[in-house]
Amino acid sequence: MPVIVHEKTGIFHLTNEGVSYIIRVMENKQLENLYYGKKIRDREDFSHLHEEGERSQMSICMPEPSRLSMQFTRQEYPCYGTGDYRSPALTARQENGSRIVSFTYDSYRLSAGKPRLAGLPATYVEKPSEAETLEITLSDKLMGTELILSYTIFAGLPVIARHARFRQKGEESVVLERAMSASVEFPDMEYELVQLSGAWARERHVRVRRLDMGLQGIQGLAGTAGGAEQNPFIALKRPDATEFSGEVYGFSLVYSGNFLANVEVSPFEMTRAMIGISPENFAWKLAPGECFTTPEAVLVYSDAGLNGMSQAFHKLYGRRLARGKWRDEPRPILLNNWEGTYFDFTEEKLLEMAREAKDAGVELFVLDDGWFGARNSDWAGLGDWYCNLSKIPSGIGGLSRKIEDMGLKFGLWVELEMVNPDSDLFRAHPDWAIHVPGRFRSHARHQYVLDFSRPEVVDYIYEMAAKLLSEARISYIKWDMNRYMTEPFSPGLPADRQGEMMHRYILGLYSLYERLIAAFPDVLFESCASGGARFDPGMLYYAPQAWCSDDTDASERVGIQYGTTFVYPLSMIGSHVSAAPNHQLLRSTPLRTRGAVAFFGTFGYELVLGKMKPEELAVVKEQVAFMKKYRRLIQIEGTFTRLLSPFGRNEAAWIVVSGDKSEALGFYFQRLNRVNGSFVRFRLAGLDPDRLYTVSHENGGERKAYKAYGDELMNAGIPLDRSEFYAAGGDFAALIFELKALF
Ligand code: DGJ
Repeated sequence: MPVIVHEKTGIFHLTNEGVSYIIRVMENKQLENLYYGKKIRDREDFSHLHEEGERSQMSICMPEPSRLSMQFTRQEYPCYGTGDYRSPALTARQENGSRIVSFTYDSYRLSAGKPRLAGLPATYVEKPSEAETLEITLSDKLMGTELILSYTIFAGLPVIARHARFRQKGEESVVLERAMSASVEFPDMEYELVQLSGAWARERHVRVRRLDMGLQGIQGLAGTAGGAEQNPFIALKRPDATEFSGEVYGFSLVYSGNFLANVEVSPFEMTRAMIGISPENFAWKLAPGECFTTPEAVLVYSDAGLNGMSQAFHKLYGRRLARGKWRDEPRPILLNNWEGTYFDFTEEKLLEMAREAKDAGVELFVLDDGWFGARNSDWAGLGDWYCNLSKIPSGIGGLSRKIEDMGLKFGLWVELEMVNPDSDLFRAHPDWAIHVPGRFRSHARHQYVLDFSRPEVVDYIYEMAAKLLSEARISYIKWDMNRYMTEPFSPGLPADRQGEMMHRYILGLYSLYERLIAAFPDVLFESCASGGARFDPGMLYYAPQAWCSDDTDASERVGIQYGTTFVYPLSMIGSHVSAAPNHQLLRSTPLRTRGAVAFFGTFGYELVLGKMKPEELAVVKEQVAFMKKYRRLIQIEGTFTRLLSPFGRNEAAWIVVSGDKSEALGFYFQRLNRVNGSFVRFRLAGLDPDRLYTVSHENGGERKAYKAYGDELMNAGIPLDRSEFYAAGGDFAALIFELKALF
């Protein structure tokens, strides 16, 4: 059984072959965490792992002769005010103004499988045998509030999913000012904090810092899960942990709104890590009878380094967070017109681009921004989701049918959460854009954010989107979101509920997605936010892929995609080949390199094929054929392993190996060429050491192949002659090795 309960000692032990997580009911009936890490054998009692020592200035939270102090206790859901001076997981303001709480143990419940979280995205199971869930009910008798801490342990994965649920049973209201999804404590501080940070066009760069006493962490306040600046994820790794070995704890939040990931090291060198909705500008009123559920936090333990952590996230998020038809399907190879035309297109031009795409073997033509309302630049039109017939006389319905008649599928860009001041929608409903009456409305890209905390706004947008999807033949939607949120306030909420607005916006967004997915289950959704500014597990639940970055330069993308794979599977990473020189950097990289980088994602093009030379078009056709051959391995069946990090070095490498280890694709990249450089060995990972593989690759028009055993390839490596880099273009050269087991 993955959850073992020792009622006599008050111990709950969540365990599977990879992990142990041990909780105990303390003498004051609150919950403590005794251990979290590699699986250890079960015992009736682990209470000796509770550390308590007499210190000066220690506050005792029980009558004498107890020596229990919250200051040194590793708690499951810590609160402020009874002797614990670290950051709490919960702050609840009561009607008398007090924020002192005391949640004590009432009961527990075990269930096979995993219940859904109403209105929120979450990991799930398909069979009850895939997981077991422990729900521990606590209550604060004075407040009359019930708190259920929920823990799901997955079979065969080192994963524990947590969330908290509150119900106000008393007669007074309580305001949750801080309600984290999970808080975990460790007895020491020998960790480094890993985060994925950046900015527009350089999202999810890997940053690592050593923990120190006090507070450290990351926060996202832009209303989009941290925007391009932070991802709702942190890891704590041992300083000697690498990509391949050592202990790593990953914390990921299944949420698309403001978040906080906070790590605090106490003066006694204990570490507390928590993740959840950011308390900034958050206050949720629980009136009598009302409930509140936090988003889900997913905790991964790995003793196989960062790759071990990432592979657990990939399996879980790829198979048990993503949903629908596209979860298990290789993704269509697309051509998107954005970088090819920007706003400057006609129906004829689009049809010509689509014909060229069809000739190259592309499967889906995507019409990006600029097709609706008065949208000839980013100054106007958002909110008016009807076709601009002066640009597209056949309308979206007519255009989509013409594209389908060519043998392609048709996809469309939308930005449903936004409105331009210059739009019919804004002129009709200026109050629907988020603002505080009487105050200036901050704008970004000449647009405002619609108030999705108001159900009538979401209903209106649903009707418009559903009409569009019903009237045209749309197989794919790119759902963009190009500005952060400001001045959060909603006339739809009373004064004492304004702190709920940002979270209610996200719930409104989730409900819109849910309704559209239910009504149009075959449509493939790709989320996007000025590139990769809303790349989070919450979105993955609705849209199984996300545009990774507006930076389409292959060399920059190596780093962005490398960082993204810390949490997200390749099937989620939107990656396209764009023109050279690149539009963001003016850098030229070889077409083969641009293709090689884009293969490790959903793959597509973002350029005008008709402008390419015949020899380049021949390469494009090869790339499309290559992706069709390997996309099931890359996106669905393979295990992805990072081999060399581009952060702080000139090279990058990774590999995807099939589940049965009979097939693999290795990727090796160098940023700048080296004259008279050193010898290079490309060491692989994840292969079967005892199988003989053919290793082949094509470079400079020549295909080379040799045979080697898996153990040799993983330890001695593939010797790379430096002439290979010259043949692949010198600077920004990429090589792809195809491996096939011979028996
Ligand atoms: C931002 C996206 O990341 C781009 O790909 C493109 O769709 C533009 N928005 C369109 O405005």
